[in-house]
Amino acid sequence: MRIRTLGSREFAWVLMGALVGMGPLWAQGDNLLPQPAKTARQEGRLAIAGSFRVALQGYVEPRLRAAGIRLVDRLAQQTGIPMDSAPLTDPAQATLVVRCDHAGEAVQSLREDESYRLEITSRQARLEAATPVGVLRGMETFLQSVRLDQDGFGVPAMTIDDKPRFPWRGLMIDVSRRWIPLPIILRNLDAMAAVKLNVLHWHLTDDQGFRVESLRFPKLHQMGSDGFYYTQQEIRDVVAYARERGIRVVPEFDVPGHITSWLVGYPELASRPGPYTVDRALGIRDPALDPTRDEVYAFLDAFIGEMVQLFPDEYFHIGGDEVTGRDWRENPRIQGFMREHGMKDHRDLQAYFNQRLLPILQKYERKMVGWDEILHPDLPKDIVVHSWRGQRSLAEAARHGYMGILSTGYYLDLMQPASLHYGVDPLGDGAAGLSESEQARILGGEACVWTENIDMENIDAADWPRSAAMAERLWSPAQVKDVDSMYRRLEVVSRQLEWMGLTHRSSSRLMLERLAGDGDPATLRRLAGALAPLNCDVRRRVHPYTSLTPLNRLVDAIPPESDAAREFDHLVKHWPANQAKIREQLSQWKQVGAEVAQLVHGSALLQEDVPVAASVSAVAEAGLQALDYLEHAKPAPKAWVAEQTALLDRAGKPQAEMWIVIVPSVRKLLQAAGAGK
Ligand code: ACM
Repeated sequence: MRIRTLGSREFAWVLMGALVGMGPLWAQGDNLLPQPAKTARQEGRLAIAGSFRVALQGYVEPRLRAAGIRLVDRLAQQTGIPMDSAPLTDPAQATLVVRCDHAGEAVQSLREDESYRLEITSRQARLEAATPVGVLRGMETFLQSVRLDQDGFGVPAMTIDDKPRFPWRGLMIDVSRRWIPLPIILRNLDAMAAVKLNVLHWHLTDDQGFRVESLRFPKLHQMGSDGFYYTQQEIRDVVAYARERGIRVVPEFDVPGHITSWLVGYPELASRPGPYTVDRALGIRDPALDPTRDEVYAFLDAFIGEMVQLFPDEYFHIGGDEVTGRDWRENPRIQGFMREHGMKDHRDLQAYFNQRLLPILQKYERKMVGWDEILHPDLPKDIVVHSWRGQRSLAEAARHGYMGILSTGYYLDLMQPASLHYGVDPLGDGAAGLSESEQARILGGEACVWTENIDMENIDAADWPRSAAMAERLWSPAQVKDVDSMYRRLEVVSRQLEWMGLTHRSSSRLMLERLAGDGDPATLRRLAGALAPLNCDVRRRVHPYTSLTPLNRLVDAIPPESDAAREFDHLVKHWPANQAKIREQLSQWKQVGAEVAQLVHGSALLQEDVPVAASVSAVAEAGLQALDYLEHAKPAPKAWVAEQTALLDRAGKPQAEMWIVIVPSVRKLLQAAGAGK
């Protein structure tokens, strides 16, 4: 952001921004997420009115025309002003002139040019890009720039020169553990495009479900899916929808483990005799393809030959994670094969499997992507290693000449705050010591949503807005890392995503209403503000989940990260200035114990939450007492501090698979009260 003096109107904006608590960032017109590589602000603003039109110049294709129409439709929705979305050719009549230089790649790849330049003056906006994908990125920036101020809707005058830091910016969605219907995939693609993510990694098969129609091997989807799968036409529709938005679709068919759903219809591929049924249990399972038999490769050849017709991307994800080797160890014929080939353990056998798979992929002109476990010196250097075991293993792969993408630190089902994902840099930590050419092999990363404990109701809330924080890490320059700024902009993007049809906020409201029965859900919304769900891996350790367990409890309804708790912590950090607000918030939380004790009479689902709400009340009461001491400026008695500390220690432990996340903030109040300041 260029430093400059403010005009009187802008000074008023700054003042207003500060008054409404949004800070000066808003006044600078800077709500963009991800932040562009370069932004230069100028004086003035471009007004947005009902006369808004787009003109397309230079290279034009149907994708660009559709994008132009979509942009105006979204702008009309965002502003509530009816607009004519038909693109013009005459730039003189247009508010936004788009100039694309040439066609992009027939199949979008890692090498696609996504850069763009957006120049906004008080007269007109001009978006220039080499390719349609660059235009798409710039259009999202333009839409994010539109603000309402005292003069109406407008975009601040500025020049943006933008391009991504990493070429692979993905979101992985697991549709196997829990079925995720097509409209949810489509709206997630909309959201991805809004924050410039460019790869949908579709985890389509696993032990609990096979989700693609196969005409060649129909027992795969017929017997492996409980009837929940995407037809081939639907897959084609998703791929086309993604391309329209500049997003690649990389399918994952996880082999040779995570395979049970395949074996229900085709038990002859397995390492242990069937029959098999669709697995309801979760966690790491033993079933595996038999890598020693030619028929297995013939099957994979025919199957992959069919799937590449649906998925044009140059990369094909073969999974390869978490093969236990048990079914191989317990099969004497497989053991004999391993001895014969001098293989010492199941990793060697998996490497053999991958090497037989590789020419099949190559025959179909596909490159292999797989999780960490596929890394083996015999594999060629054009494979991509997808790291879920740490930056160190990613760095190791890069050092050995392999390309890699990072997902460690981006697992959204671990229910960590956006700030944590934001702080994870593919080139940080283990990768920091790499040479420039080694660093160039690190292509980016993917947020992952594993759905053992997430379903169609709350998947948007797992994905959004936290994916947007990672999107900024992967798109924006490395030095863009102010967490407060990220959260402020995340809030704006979150609202925009809801306008686009994402349900990450509304799902929580609806699920809390269901939990409340005929009672007042406002209590549960207040309670939710003090809570966060446990990491899904930990949840499965404390509760016997299957893929059919209802996900309708409070832990499923609350957002992964509580905005109220984060804001409360901010208030506490600056407590002397915020005493009244802190007291008001704590007083509300103090009520929830009694209120939930009433609500439970109308909702069996809330039974387990009565003690949780009672704990929240007790924590709030401790905070209120601490405030009393602080306000009277006398140190709290040691015995009181010890007693309340013990209470917070108890309340800090998980209950009903949730954390009371306001405990650390109240602890700060307690410590201050104990110290008398
Ligand atoms: C994985 O989390 N097993 C890729």
